[in-house]
Amino acid sequence: MYHFKLTITNLKTTEIIAYKEKIDSTRLPQHIAIIMDGNGRWAKAQGKHRIFGHKNGVKAVREVTEGCAEIGVKYLTLYAFSTENWNRPKTEVSALMQLLFLTIGKEIKTLQKNNIRLNVIGHINDLPESNRKALQEVMEATKNNTRMTLTLALSYGSREEIAEAVRKMAADYKDGKISMQEITQETIGAHLYTHDMPDPELMIRTSGEHRISNFLLWQMAYTELYFTEKFWPEFERNDLFKAIYDFQHRERRFGMISEQLKEQETTND
Ligand code: FPP
Repeated sequence: MYHFKLTITNLKTTEIIAYKEKIDSTRLPQHIAIIMDGNGRWAKAQGKHRIFGHKNGVKAVREVTEGCAEIGVKYLTLYAFSTENWNRPKTEVSALMQLLFLTIGKEIKTLQKNNIRLNVIGHINDLPESNRKALQEVMEATKNNTRMTLTLALSYGSREEIAEAVRKMAADYKDGKISMQEITQETIGAHLYTHDMPDPELMIRTSGEHRISNFLLWQMAYTELYFTEKFWPEFERNDLFKAIYDFQHRERRFGMISEQLKEQETTND
């Protein structure tokens, strides 16, 4: 009995650590990508409909957006709707689209006030016209904002993104616009939807699933992956800071060995 109480006390102590103060603001990841997962399971666990989970997921979107802007992360990319998500029941797809529409309309003021640019990657043309228009309006209105870029991946699939890039380069080669030697890692990157942003340094996925699910496959070659058991609607600002804190304690070797990294650090000092 005594031991049990101790365990509970310890768990509580770990939960209340304020990670923001522990973050080194000089070594922030420039770009964080997130797979927001577990809305449906979170709702089901409380006997509610899946849509209730998505509605509460919007709160978490706000939390991480504000959290990233607050500490100075420059790019945040959220996987909001994959190309595969179109296969969900029609009612869920339309509820998600409506929620997206309402959220964009509501959040434009906050984006402007906080100097955040909205960007979309994916097949925006697959979305209902109302969503497309709303997104285009907000993207246009926020295009000169400089504090942070919030990118929503909508009707997004990474393999298709890469296939499109290959098709564009093949057409350019056929038209004599590029040579075979010009097909490099850089030119491939330049043909992706993410051509104007750095690769993510940290990718977070919620709900205990350990997969990348066709998200930014090319861009995540060297990304640090962080998985948490929390369902997306439960994910709070402190969880974001905890993930960043964890990221800052990893050694990113990019194929090198520890000693070489230390040598590089001394040379850069
Ligand atoms: C994954 O949970 C979540 C989604 C497919 C949609 C994410 C959408 C939102 C958070 C709301 C709207 C977003 C914005 C950007 C305004 P899931 O349904 O796959 O959950 P499950 O794995 O438990 O079924």
